[in-house]
Amino acid sequence: MAVLVTGGAGYIGSHMVLSLLKEAYEVVVVDNFCNSSPEALRRVCSIAERECSVVEGDIRDEAFLDKVFKENDITEVLHFAGLKAVGESVSAPLKYYDNNITGTLTLCRVMQRAGVRNLVFSSSATVYGDAKNMPISEDCPTGTPTNPYGRSKLIVEEILRDVAKSDPEWSIALLRYFNPVGAHESGLIGEDPMGEPNNLVPYVAQVAVGRRPRLSIFGGDYQTKDGTGVRDYIHVEDLVAGHLAAMKKLATEKGAKIWNLGTGHGSSVLEVVEAFQRVSGRDISYTIIDRREGDIPECWADPSHAKKELGWAATKSLNDMMADTWRWQSKNPDGYRS
Ligand code: NAD
Ligand code: UD1
Repeated sequence: MAVLVTGGAGYIGSHMVLSLLKEAYEVVVVDNFCNSSPEALRRVCSIAERECSVVEGDIRDEAFLDKVFKENDITEVLHFAGLKAVGESVSAPLKYYDNNITGTLTLCRVMQRAGVRNLVFSSSATVYGDAKNMPISEDCPTGTPTNPYGRSKLIVEEILRDVAKSDPEWSIALLRYFNPVGAHESGLIGEDPMGEPNNLVPYVAQVAVGRRPRLSIFGGDYQTKDGTGVRDYIHVEDLVAGHLAAMKKLATEKGAKIWNLGTGHGSSVLEVVEAFQRVSGRDISYTIIDRREGDIPECWADPSHAKKELGWAATKSLNDMMADTWRWQSKNPDGYRS
């Protein structure tokens, strides 16, 4: 019996694979390495002192995926594979819809043929759009995502809800991540964006390590505690624990379920910068510039539904998240190419 992890070489997927190996699961990873390195999985196996099976390929290749299911006794799927760069999704929408939507449709067809109907999907708080009331609970209506990446997540959620309705044998978790950051405590695996980082924490880490001269803070005039954007940063290890809890729940419950994975606490950009300076002892130069198009002022989760139904809650502080990011970045200044 094995768990299939699509996109298992990526940032979140690699932390998930490590945790599954430690929990004694057999793991099969499918990844085309379009945004990751096989080195991540080599390190995961060395930390876990166990092997996982790695199959290089694209989830949109139906014959390839059929073969993976035929050759392995897969009982459940954690589906991380997808493209996630918001800016690129605006300039290349077809690429994003094809990868994120066609990829999921192909996966579901293959799962159905193989008789595997347990699926955990990586969704995002972006599906709430610009929610007016904080914190955001799962019964807050979904909004209008401001870009094709966000729309692809919302469309896939709707497709998966329809799939679950069509056949009561499906058990599907739609996990809405808030802002995953941090790294495994070993400092051997972490987030390794290609090119200029789009997200705050990897950018701050690259300034701290000297790869970038300064951070641009997008907007200092929001109606927030200090004028900068507020987000619910969640440690990737807490996020992974949420997936394990969701997998266990799906083993006993059918249908499509939605859970927010966040801490319930919002931090501003300046608070993140201060925390990073504190743990790293490095000065983070920054300039406050105009707002970034499509950004919302603030966003944080009501995580009580996951606490009640999954018995899961995030445990790590902003300091922990920044300290673990710094350990990873300082040990691997050029990421997996270091
Ligand atoms: P990532 O880019 O590090 O990992 C995605 C992995 O999927 C990569 O290893 C990539 O090579 C692989 N991949 C992409 N398309 C593929 C395809 N067609 N076939 C096979 N492999 C493919 O991203 P991540 O940060 O680990 O995110 C994982 C998932 O979580 C994504 O679906 C993302 O949209 C979602 N998510 C991420 C965040 C975040 O802030 N990181 C927030 C919300 C949701
Ligand atoms: C972004 C995406 C969102 C996606 C999420 C995770 C946009 C508009 N939204 O969310 O769809 O699900 O990443 O991949 O891109 N910031 C700076 N300077 C920077 C980078 C960010 O000031 O160089 C600020 C942002 O304005 C925001 C906060 O830091 O206030 C967090 O930004 P980011 O890490 O990009 O995450 P989100 O905007 O929440």
